[in-house]
Amino acid sequence: MKLLLASRNEGKIREIKTITEGRIEIISPLDLSLEVSILENGRSLKANAIKKALTYHKIAGMCTLGEDTGLEVDFLGGEPGVHSARYTNYGDVGNREKLLKKMGRGEERTARFRTVMALVLGEDWVEFFEGTIEGKIALEEKGNGGFGYDSIFIPAGYRETFAEMDEAEKNRISHRGKALKKVFGFLEREWEKLKDLCK
Ligand code: IMP
Repeated sequence: MKLLLASRNEGKIREIKTITEGRIEIISPLDLSLEVSILENGRSLKANAIKKALTYHKIAGMCTLGEDTGLEVDFLGGEPGVHSARYTNYGDVGNREKLLKKMGRGEERTARFRTVMALVLGEDWVEFFEGTIEGKIALEEKGNGGFGYDSIFIPAGYRETFAEMDEAEKNRISHRGKALKKVFGFLEREWEKLKDLCK
């Protein structure tokens, strides 16, 4: 089965390809040299996920998986949340710096990553999946792995940040890993209908 991934984020593409290896063939817009710019201005992760998936589905005519992820920080009332990608105009480095600065040394540091996935199988067939992981915001950046906010997020029950963790361990417990497990379950249940639709 083939799915087009509606994302140009290389960290995300790499992770999703690793998690789905041997189960689904993930094609990225980079593999197809598709240059599409999508304004992620939805008011929710779900709105952005469906916008990305429908846009690529229309262009490529393939079964398409869109996803949007946000880091929700309790001390900041759930921010940056749906605004995680554009928290500053300075990319991941600027975003992490701004977040650490706003948190200061405060003790309330609980947070979670939330991923919403939209699987578009046709113009009138869309399925949604969600995955979350609880954790806390570190006092400072640690680790060189991962991407985005990984170096400032410590999952609950761990001492190290996602960026210090073995990639396979992050994928086993992460928001994205959990959402993808639900996608796998769905694909297995609907296999008879999908095997010809998504080849
Ligand atoms: P988007 O889902 O591509 O819009 O990403 C939202 C923001 O969250 C971007 O700044 C990403 O780099 C960041 N992000 C997405 N997924 C993860 C993750 O698994 N770990 C850390 N940061 C992430």
